Amino acid sequence: MTKTELLPPDAAGIARAAQHLAAGALVAFPTETVYGLGADARNSLAVARIFEAKGRPRFNPLIVHVASLELAQTYVHWSHQAEVLARAFWPGPLTLVLPLRADAGLSDLVTADLPSLAVRVPAHPLARQLLTAFNGPVAAPSANPSGRISPTTAAHVIAGLDGRIEAVLDGGPCPVGLESTIIGLTGEPTLLRHGGLAQEQIEALLGHPLQQDTTPGKLTAPGQMESHYAPNARIRLHATSAAPGEVLLGFGPMPCTLNLSPTGSLTEAAANLFPHLHRLDAGDATTIAIAPIPETGLGRAINDRLRRAAAPRP
Ligand code: TXA
Ligand code: MG
Repeated sequence: MTKTELLPPDAAGIARAAQHLAAGALVAFPTETVYGLGADARNSLAVARIFEAKGRPRFNPLIVHVASLELAQTYVHWSHQAEVLARAFWPGPLTLVLPLRADAGLSDLVTADLPSLAVRVPAHPLARQLLTAFNGPVAAPSANPSGRISPTTAAHVIAGLDGRIEAVLDGGPCPVGLESTIIGLTGEPTLLRHGGLAQEQIEALLGHPLQQDTTPGKLTAPGQMESHYAPNARIRLHATSAAPGEVLLGFGPMPCTLNLSPTGSLTEAAANLFPHLHRLDAGDATTIAIAPIPETGLGRAINDRLRRAAAPRP
């Protein structure tokens, strides 16, 4: 059992978090999407502990977080398309999968022995300050036990991983609330995971539709398992009212237990999705019924997470 320190979002907290990373310890930190569970991506012992702490299968590779586009280029073979997307959307909720450079110097555990690497430059000021203070690549999956609801507050991280990690840097709630959108660039630009950057925005920039490979159950992004983001309660989708014994997660103006966005804003719904699921799951209801969400913009990522939360558990 490790004592998990809760670090404040100030210079001392950031310095302590960076010190932990340098020593091979695990530090959860806020990003604009969700909290990440960080370790030095060059240190196999540290990276192995991420998989242990989360109970994550070793075949599921990790995203490497860096402070700048220039640093990202030291780990992957860069391309014109990477340049276009990174210039437009970094720092921000976009992950790019590119061919791994032979001289990258990262632990093989990070890529699960794939010839490609997922990289991103996060926008959250604390994540950026931590990456700058640590001055190295940080491997970080979402800071939750594998298969469970992703964390968007330090309290969610503690609830899932207390005693298994050295520290949590407390930056308050994550503003976007959904994991990064993942684009594969090892061939034609391919959407591998819906996320906090809307597909439409990427397609508008590229001027053509993305190839799409986000089929639930198909392991393209190997972590895209069918059952994921699972609460303890059952999930019932496309609900318009609560049945006896159910709580209702609403969207738009409607009577319900909690509302993702009373005004029907998908941005607000994205930020509320995981916190509301955590809250409803902490109650007594055996089933969380969930109102329909439009399949457009961030609604695609919200629906993707809800479908996986509702999928039969392994
Ligand atoms: O917003 C995010 O992306 C958050 C924050 C912490 O940055 N991180 C996150 O990590 O969501 P994680 O491990 O929960 O999800 C990473 C996904 C997994 O589905 C994994 O399979 C996929 O990225 N992935 C990683 N490397 C890959 C690669 N080389 N090729 C394809 N998919 C990859
Ligand atoms: Mg995750």
